[in-house]
Amino acid sequence: MPRLSCWFIRAALLHLFLGFTFGGLLLFHKGVPLYPALWRFLPAHIEFLFFGWTVQLVMGIGFWIFPRFRRSRGNEKPAWLAFGLLNLGVGLVALATLFSLPPLVSFLGRLAEVGAAIAFAWHAWPRLKPPGVTRSS
Ligand code: HEM
Repeated sequence: MPRLSCWFIRAALLHLFLGFTFGGLLLFHKGVPLYPALWRFLPAHIEFLFFGWTVQLVMGIGFWIFPRFRRSRGNEKPAWLAFGLLNLGVGLVALATLFSLPPLVSFLGRLAEVGAAIAFAWHAWPRLKPPGVTRSS
């Protein structure tokens, strides 16, 4: 497995842990109320599990298994950028919702997430081809 996929999947598992922990607390709180402000965890729960876990896992596996040009995965820099931006974005949005930070923080987080999607598409686009088609055709 390439190094970047390891990082994507490790980070995805970390987000899975955080998202499930928050989800578990919320679920428990629905049955046995613990503390009303716990509902503040809901946006972070969604952020960790949707972008931090699901999207990140897809990117990590995609980087690993999309078709290669002989042994090369093409331009890897945008994929590393996607990894950085996605984790920055999820972190900013989660912190902004947990600590009621100014809306600008969430906005910057969302911007980073959009940037991650664009950067990953930039990396992956040339690799999306039917079997037997070479880079030049
Ligand atoms: C990939 C996994 C998951 C995703 C993408 C996810 C996503 C979401 C979303 C989008 C909501 C908001 C639903 C709404 O407002 O109508 C939500 C709510 C919730 N989730 Fe998750 N979730 C996941 C797994 C879990 C797990 C494993 C637990 C518990 C251990 C959990 C516990 C909860 C609870 C308690 C709520 C609040 C429900 C309510 O509004 O009454 N979630 N989740």
